[in-house]
Order: sequence, then C-alpha cells, then structure tokens
Amino acid sequence: MNEPLLSIRDVSNVYISRSIALFGKKERKPVLHHINLEMRRGEILGLTGKSGCGKTTLARCILGLIDYEGEILSPRILQRSSPRNIQMVFQEPGESLNPAKKIGWLMEEPLVIHRIGKPEERRSKVDEMLRKVGLGPSFKTRRVNELSGGQKQRVCIARALILEPKLLIADEAISSLDVSTGAQILNLFRELHKELSLSVFFISHNTDAVEYLCGRVAVMKDGRIEES
Ligand SMILES: Nc1ncnc2c1ncn2[C@@H]1O[C@H](COP(=O)(O)OP(=O)(O)OP(=O)(O)O)[C@@H](O)[C@H]1O
Ligand SMILES: [Mg+2]
Repeated sequence: MNEPLLSIRDVSNVYISRSIALFGKKERKPVLHHINLEMRRGEILGLTGKSGCGKTTLARCILGLIDYEGEILSPRILQRSSPRNIQMVFQEPGESLNPAKKIGWLMEEPLVIHRIGKPEERRSKVDEMLRKVGLGPSFKTRRVNELSGGQKQRVCIARALILEPKLLIADEAISSLDVSTGAQILNLFRELHKELSLSVFFISHNTDAVEYLCGRVAVMKDGRIEES
C-alpha cells in the first residue's frame, strides 16, 4: 500500500508559443514551478486549485504529452512498459465517445486496439466492466445519445478500466455533471478504488468533492503545490 507509484520531483514547465504581435519571437509562459508530489500505490490522491493554476498541465506532464524539467518517476507503471498503464477520464464524457457506435462496440474498442483477448473473452470483459460501473450488459445496444451525462461518464470510466491500468487520472471528471450525478460518480470511484485497489489521481477545482473522495489532497496555486 505504501509503495510509491509515482514520484514527481522538481517538475517545472514552460509553454513556448509564437506570438503574432512580437512577430516570430517566441513567448515563454511558465506554468509549473518546482512541483514535488508523491503518489502511493492504491491511494486516491486529490489535486485541487483555481482554474488556470496548472492542474491539467501537470496531468499532461505525467502522461508524457508535454515537455518538462525535473523528473517523473513511475517504477510500478513502467514495469510493464505500456501506454495503457495510465488511463484518463475527462470532463466531457460525450466528447471521447463516437456517437455513431453502440456502447458494446465502444467498450470493446480499447481491447481491440491493444490486441487483448479473443472476441469471446473481450465480450465477457465488457459485460463484467459494464456491471462494475453500475450499467450492466443491456447498455451494449445503446448509442451515446441515448445516455445521460452520468451514464456517459460511467462508460468512459469503464473504457479506461477495461485496460486494467495501474493509474487512473480523472481530470474534472464530475465538473460537467449536476450535483447529484456528480456525487454518484464520486461514489463509483470509491467503490472501484476499494474493489480493484485502483490508484486514482483525482483532479478537480471542486474542493468539497476532492475532500470527500481523496485520502490526501494537494492544493495548487499559480503552478506551485501549497500543501500536501
Ligand atoms: N498549450 C498551451 N499553450 C500556452 N499556454 C497554455 C497551454 N495550455 C495551458 N496553458 C496555460 O497554462 C495555465 C495552466 O493551464 P491548465 O489547463 O493546466 O490549468 P487548470 O488548473 O487545469 O485549469 P482548469 O481548472 O480551468 O481546468 C493557464 O494559464 C493556461 O492558459
Ligand atoms: Mg484543467
């Protein structure tokens, strides 16, 4: 339980953008300043802070999507080096789901992409995962536009977890949902954390949600961690 899953050491990040006004001159925008944060295996770590403080930027550094200075060590995740070891859940659940496909197809897609299991095994994994997120196999024949926001988010969570990631990063995963639906999703994270010993990095500007769900909370302000 206490093994480090992720060590973020002295991580800083600068966005370099070409400014039109300065004609070809590159503008440097420092966002993260010497972030230190450790996440243990099996914990739900919260990250909160005002809009624009750098939360998503830190998530993108962890995913290796953008450059940074410093180190992000993830021995447990890199053990079986595979991109599927870290999965993400985003704010707008509808946006990452192809509306033309049925839920059964969408659930199977990550397994097909990563060439996991035979068709029959894949289908039983899909059924099991849909049950775990509180939807059930009957949802396989539905399309995205036949689901509520909360149900769409459950599908996104199921699609992320079907790959059995070592770490789930949820970035504003309840921000587009109404209060009671958001609370249900928080409880789902809790159940899944318990059942699957899932490690979750839960990012939200909603401090109440973060405090309710997370064992430990880091607060970010202007690209710095204030407390953790
Ligand atoms: N691609 C980019 N190029 C330049 N600046 C960027 C880029 N992406 C983000 N930023 C800036 O970096 C800062 C941090 O953005 P980030 O998205 O990490 O904030 P956040 O804490 O996730 O905010 P929110 O709570 O609104 O999601 C902001 O000032 C933003 O304008
Ligand atoms: Mg963000």
